[in-house]
Amino acid sequence: MTETDRPLTLAEKARLTSGHDTWTSSAAPGVPSFRMADGPHGLRVHADRGDHLGLQGSLPATCFPPAVTLGSAWDPGLAERVGAAIAREAKAAGVDVVLGPGINIKRSPLCGRNFEYFSEDPLVAAEMGAALVRGLQGAGVGASLKHFAANNQETDRLRVSADIDERPLREIYLRAFERVVRRARPWTVMSSYNALNGVPVSENRWLLTEVLREEWGFDGVVVSDWGAVHDRVEALAAGLDLQMPSTQGRGDREIEQAVARGELDEAVLDRSVARITALARRAAASRAPDTDPGHDGHHALAREVAARGTVLLKNDGPVLPLDPAAGPVAVVGELARTPVLQGGGSARVEPVRVETALDHLRERLGAAWAGFAPGYPLAGASGAGRGGAEPIADAVRLAASARTTLVFLGPGPAEESEGFDRDHLDLPAPQTELLEAVLEAAERVVVVLSNGGTVRVTPWADRVDALVEAWLPGQAGGAGLADVLLGDAEPSGRLTETVPLRLEDVPSHLNFPGEEGRVRYGEGIFVGYRGYDARDLPVAFPFGHGLSYTAFAYSGLSVRREGEEVRAALTVANTGDRPGREVVQLYTAGPADSGVARPVRELRAFTGVTLAPGERREVELAVPVGDLAYYSIRDAGWRVEPGTYRFEAGASSRDIRLSADLDLDGGPDRELTAESTLAEWRAHPAGGPLLTEALSTAGDAAERTRRLLADPSVRRIAEQMSLAAIAAIPGSPITEEDLEKLVERLHADGGAD
Ligand code: BGC
Repeated sequence: MTETDRPLTLAEKARLTSGHDTWTSSAAPGVPSFRMADGPHGLRVHADRGDHLGLQGSLPATCFPPAVTLGSAWDPGLAERVGAAIAREAKAAGVDVVLGPGINIKRSPLCGRNFEYFSEDPLVAAEMGAALVRGLQGAGVGASLKHFAANNQETDRLRVSADIDERPLREIYLRAFERVVRRARPWTVMSSYNALNGVPVSENRWLLTEVLREEWGFDGVVVSDWGAVHDRVEALAAGLDLQMPSTQGRGDREIEQAVARGELDEAVLDRSVARITALARRAAASRAPDTDPGHDGHHALAREVAARGTVLLKNDGPVLPLDPAAGPVAVVGELARTPVLQGGGSARVEPVRVETALDHLRERLGAAWAGFAPGYPLAGASGAGRGGAEPIADAVRLAASARTTLVFLGPGPAEESEGFDRDHLDLPAPQTELLEAVLEAAERVVVVLSNGGTVRVTPWADRVDALVEAWLPGQAGGAGLADVLLGDAEPSGRLTETVPLRLEDVPSHLNFPGEEGRVRYGEGIFVGYRGYDARDLPVAFPFGHGLSYTAFAYSGLSVRREGEEVRAALTVANTGDRPGREVVQLYTAGPADSGVARPVRELRAFTGVTLAPGERREVELAVPVGDLAYYSIRDAGWRVEPGTYRFEAGASSRDIRLSADLDLDGGPDRELTAESTLAEWRAHPAGGPLLTEALSTAGDAAERTRRLLADPSVRRIAEQMSLAAIAAIPGSPITEEDLEKLVERLHADGGAD
């Protein structure tokens, strides 16, 4: 027997289940070590071990626009290309697993890590996340889908328990994870810091084993977030394979002792070791250290993503694209010169190089260039305070001399980060003061926002001519933004989250960020647009919104069922005089008489279509019938209700252009018992007629009951009562014996479900 194929000792096996150091796994005879690095929008890898938090001193890598920007492109193909590019840089740096994508739901715009996440909607998060996983893994580098699960805030993130009822948990917070796990099969899933319904996620067997592995079929490695394990033995038993980073052997010894004492079945350890071994061998087999990182090509891709993720929220006039022949253009705002490329924390990438919007605009506007004024100091930026003694007055003078003034605004580099949440949505006061002053003096004002989470755009948005949401743009963002402003790229980004009018309108507002270690997700399934729509609240800009420099017309929506899918087809035409890309969104509503609370509409599919002026094309979108289910807590499972569903095609959640109804027969009817209500019996296709038949033989009692039920309020009370409760009433038209026979007959006829 050679050293590499002898069985591993207990100590060797235990050692494999924790990190060797901050970034690598441990090795054992026959099991190589593998290297991990953040993620998610570029590589954060250290030449040596870096500082002990691993936050500083990483090597230069392409800083792609973070998820907030990439997600706004609504283009899984683009995300896949970014994944492949990051994989290439990872290979060149000897990294086997990239710690991303992050696909948590944006429950509140205040979450400090929203820049790292895709959307308030699970379908968008899942489609973009799955594409990144495919891109990475298609190039032979593992992904780590994170942060599983319900890590929707940074406040108290290491301890807080997200208290979520099972329906919203399944329909909103686990849904994207389920889709990515089933469809893209990530090599690893990262367990989050927080607790879920009172149980720390890293020790949550229900989540890590029953749901993730047994229901969804995950066969990869569960890795802890860095430092997320409290009880190593509990965590292993719950299904957490790999503890990161190293604990200098402490966790391993606890495992050994638990096995020796008979408190932990060695088979549990063996299962984790087998999974880690498979991953380590897979990683070793796809290494290619001589890979060229491809920085130049990736810079061009980062520029493309920045342009594609820019969302044109408003464009009166239209003032955009800028026409240099129309007169001088002034640029105001320190952020044009000192861009905030990304948010802070573990996702922070050291860019290879940086292009600013200021440099690009100055160069490309030529004779139309009117000048630059910083307007405000940028707290936390290098170069802070460079505004001069009278920054606002300088900016106003400049704006007054120009035909168009671009005003760059955003929360700045110190406001958005892992590790803490924002506590308001407002822009810094010096910036709004600047904007007010510029609005007085300037002829035409275009505001360019740079932010990772939404900011409040009232009360000024009505008074600007154009509003451009550029998000956090990555290292080539200045070039990508200039491409859009000058019309060299067509804007086609769409909001993946609602821009609310006020923080108070946000559905989670009264329950964010919780207190005393618990945060109750009291808004249930009504997260994001589902919550604004359910309360019919006005918003600044709705989910899915984004303008183009051209216009699109929708026609001819048809929907049909084909096997286990609903297929929707419609025609989209470019009715303007520029090319453009429309993002067609398909929502569903209903069924109309649903037995549970339903959102007004929910996104079920989307697709992008690029059209030349005058061109028209038929697009088809498919929705698995199973996606129309709600999660029934009574059945402990997904349930497609029978009924009429409305399919809506639109350009945003509040710009529905076409709709069509489709009847679906749904899943099996719910099983009836004596505890089912009168209303449930009457509505049931087999139970209803049997009940009517039983009542028809009840003589006087039935007649008396009929008279009673003629009173609508009595009827409503009775409909809510179970047949068992009705049978227990003296003089009831149905006795307990009758009821027993009724249930027996229903089962004998096979009509119980
Ligand atoms: C973050 C993870 C990250 C890990 C390693 C943690 O603090 O939550 O997203 O991957 O650190 O840097």
